[in-house]
Amino acid sequence: MAPQDKPPMPASATGVGDRPQRKSILDRHKILEKNATLLLVVSFLVVTVGGIVEIAPLFYLENTIEEVDGVRPYSPLELAGRDIYIREGCYVCHSQMIRPMRDEVERYGHYSLAAESMYDHPFQWGSKRTGPDLARVGGRYSDEWHVAHFVDPQSVVPESVMPKYAFLRNAKLKPLHIDELLETHRLVGVPYTDEMIENAEADFMVQIDPDGDTDGLLERYPGAQVRNFDGEPGMSEMDALIAYMQMLGTLVDFSTFTPDPDR
Ligand code: HEC
Repeated sequence: MAPQDKPPMPASATGVGDRPQRKSILDRHKILEKNATLLLVVSFLVVTVGGIVEIAPLFYLENTIEEVDGVRPYSPLELAGRDIYIREGCYVCHSQMIRPMRDEVERYGHYSLAAESMYDHPFQWGSKRTGPDLARVGGRYSDEWHVAHFVDPQSVVPESVMPKYAFLRNAKLKPLHIDELLETHRLVGVPYTDEMIENAEADFMVQIDPDGDTDGLLERYPGAQVRNFDGEPGMSEMDALIAYMQMLGTLVDFSTFTPDPDR
């Protein structure tokens, strides 16, 4: 017998006939499923409510970023180093964001705080880790290690796939437009003061000169590290990049930091 010739099932066997004929919520939902315009309108309403619930509270918060002691704008030299980091595309292989998961915290240190990248324009969180996260690389290695590593990464980590950046040693760096760079960052919200902008060039040069007058620099940028980073006379891009590497993740003292439980 062909399947279509099957006699119809008695109502009692299908179970349909036994139930009261009440419209279930799924039946009502069918109306939406069958009417594309209505579905669109109702979806829009649902998304609107969800959006309001998520976004509206942000208007009432004074600040979405918890203020944390020690976080300060980048010194001019660090900022220049950061620009080299961006120019060279280091973010293609390195992230700067330690997620609050056990494996990351054990490997890299305390998870990243929003405040730690509040002066980053653009932020360098990254989405790819061909190399390790760099958010707390500051102080992990000596300056000499960094020089050797940038000149020839395989000389210190034989299996490394990181490209060589030896040319940074020979690329002389001048504080051209450094004050304008600070001003640009001020434009997007970094609280650089007039004094910081006026002294940008001097602060830039003195950060690699431990014998210079660094009082102003240290007052404006507490915790700034002053030394000849690449060990060579004069200011090179290597100096700036290492100054940036060595300060990453060092501004907040995590021995005294307690997260705000409300956030
Ligand atoms: C092609 C991908 C790639 C690029 C681009 C790259 N790196 Fe790396 N980097 C790596 C890899 C892989 C490692 C791990 C092996 C090693 O130490 O060399 C690494 C390691 C490092 C380390 C040591 C980190 C640690 O905790 O051991 C630093 C610092 C570093 N890179 C900085 C940079 C900077 C600065 C740039 C840009 C000038 C850069 N890298 C560009 C792949 C890359």
